[in-house]
Formats: sequence, C-alpha cells, structure tokens
Amino acid sequence: MAELLIIWHSRTGGSRQMAEAAYDAARSEGAARILTAEDAQPEDLIDAAGYLFCAPENLASLSGQMKEFFDRCYYPVLGRIEGRPYAQMVCAGSDGQGAARQLARIATGWRLREVQPPFILCTDAQTPEAILAPKKLDADTLAPCRELGAALSAGLALGVF
Ligand SMILES: Cc1cc2nc3c(=O)[nH]c(=O)nc-3n(C[C@H](O)[C@H](O)[C@H](O)COP(=O)(O)O)c2cc1C
Repeated sequence: MAELLIIWHSRTGGSRQMAEAAYDAARSEGAARILTAEDAQPEDLIDAAGYLFCAPENLASLSGQMKEFFDRCYYPVLGRIEGRPYAQMVCAGSDGQGAARQLARIATGWRLREVQPPFILCTDAQTPEAILAPKKLDADTLAPCRELGAALSAGLALGVF
C-alpha cells in the first residue's frame, strides 16, 4: 500500500508531538511510517509514496538536525522521487516562515509536489527560558496536525495525488 513517511526533528518536543499526532491520524487512514531525521535514510525516502516533514525553526531556518537529513539524503535520492506528494509542518516561537521557505526550496529541488500549504505552529515562546523549556501541546493545538496526517494518508491510499 502507498505509504506516507513522516520525518521529524525536535529540540524541545513541539515538533515531535506534531509529528506523532499526524502519524497517529495517518495510521487510521492508510499506511504510514514515522522516522527521526537522524534515522531516516535515502532508501526510506525511495520506498515511500509521499512525505510529511516536521521540524522546528531555529535561527530563521530549519533546525540543524533536519538540515543534516536533507544534506545527507539530497543527492542519493535526486531524480528518484520526482513528482511525489509532500507537505510540511514547522514548530516556531513566533515566525516559522524561514524554515518553511528553506524546506520548500529543497523539496522543489527534488521535484516533489506540495499538496498542502505549510502548517506553521507558533508556541509564542519569546524569552530564552520559554524557548528552551519542554513544550506541551494540547489536543486542540495538535488538531491541524492530525488533520494533515489523515488527509495525506487518505489521499495516498485513494490514489488522489
Ligand atoms: C536556537 C534556537 C533558535 C530559534 N530560532 C527561532 C526563530 O528564528 N524563529 C522562531 O519563530 N522561533 C525560533 N526558536 C523557537 C523555536 O522554534 C520554538 O521554541 C519551537 O517550539 C521549537 O520546536 P521544538 O519544540 O520542536 O524544538 C528558536 C529556538 C532555539 C532553541
């Protein structure tokens, strides 16, 4: 069955909860798999039918670990996943646009097809203490992540992408 692959990185837990919420909903609609950016390999990308990337914005760009995943996998899969659907989720303090733009440029290089606009969740963390604190996102806050995971998984299962 066409499998959705969710790849995530998180420093303080927000993106992890977003990715897990999406995965939980995706599994109920079709085939889905979840991997950390650290564990994800080029073969995992090649084997999947579509992708959901999820990471924090750090210093106006993708978190280093998420960028490392793309740097490591970019050329091994270039030309082998063209046209596949993807979406992205960014966890940010107050912005998130820089990370979303950067990820979209990488996805364009791979010739992936964006099937949903980026979902950016702002935690409103402003002080160093709040930014470094573990994040706890409630069910309402995570609802859009569940919806996105479910929509991607259902779309892949039904062959609508
Ligand atoms: C080093 C660092 C840099 C950050 N830079 C930004 C930033 O440029 N823009 C922003 O909106 N949030 C920024 N943040 C806040 C995080 O994006 C926010 O806390 C988010 O919830 C982190 O997601 P995570 O819990 O998955 O790590 C930064 C956080 C850290 C630790």
